[in-house]
Amino acid sequence: MQFNNLLIETTDGIATLTINRPQVLNALNSDVVRELECALYELDLDTTVKVVILTGAGEKAFVAGADIKEMAELSSFEAHDFARKGQRLILMINRMRKPVIAAVNGYALGGGLELALACDFIYASEKAKFGFPEVGLGVIPGFGGTQNLARLIGPNKANELVFSGRIISAAKACEWGIVNELSAPEELLAKVLATAREIAGKGAVGVAYAKDAIASGLNMTKEDGFRYEASIFGVLFATSDQREGMGAFLEKRTAEFKGK
Ligand code: CAA
Repeated sequence: MQFNNLLIETTDGIATLTINRPQVLNALNSDVVRELECALYELDLDTTVKVVILTGAGEKAFVAGADIKEMAELSSFEAHDFARKGQRLILMINRMRKPVIAAVNGYALGGGLELALACDFIYASEKAKFGFPEVGLGVIPGFGGTQNLARLIGPNKANELVFSGRIISAAKACEWGIVNELSAPEELLAKVLATAREIAGKGAVGVAYAKDAIASGLNMTKEDGFRYEASIFGVLFATSDQREGMGAFLEKRTAEFKGK
């Protein structure tokens, strides 16, 4: 499928998906949201892809939010519909079988931060900036930000960030647990790629179920989560990746996983 606002490059099982509207700091209009959903759906089905990296074109922004020019004229019904479509994209990233890593190369604001938070974890440039400026526009985050941020860093810090509309530094975002790792801007993609390669070298079935166990477990009681984890642990003993992984350890060789 052809995309007007996205670039996709796949090497050695790692797909890098770049949102490509640098003239508006990669703002998310409805076309971009739809293209992202289609592209990620295809990448999830593609068995040659093991890990997806999501980033923004240019040096200035990951994504500076939903497209304010498009949003400004929306009716209440259209705004609700836009939020639901954005949330569908966010939930889809959570449900994808393969890991999605956000490489935040600049501003991650509003819908951009929501997109990064939907990813399994975030690496960022030391120059990146994070925030939810929505209250300054008379609205609130609408792509799951109020929900995902509070779950990630707790309600108190989420309240401060969302109520103030303040833009925080990458260092602060790292200290608050939004970002896993910081690097110099020119080293960011190499750092993310190195981690993506590490993950891609593991059993893809195990990685997919680990993602599912962690994400699903967050919506369960701890006991239900434990039960779910044990069920998955058992199911994995029916896979060739389990036989290969444990066999390779015992034979003192590198495992060659097939992802099944
Ligand atoms: N939507 C549409 N266009 C945007 C945009 C956005 N979110 N962010 C930046 N742009 C455009 C600017 O309008 C500008 O276009 P022109 O050259 O045609 O004027 C271009 O990108 C470059 O931006 P600036 O000149 O503003 O760059 P700057 O360096 O001076 O400032 C910035 C950078 C602080 C990020 C500033 O652009 C900004 O504040 N952007 C808006 C951020 C924002 O409020 N995001 C939240 C949107 S609401 C949302 O996301 C709701 C939701 O949860 C779904």
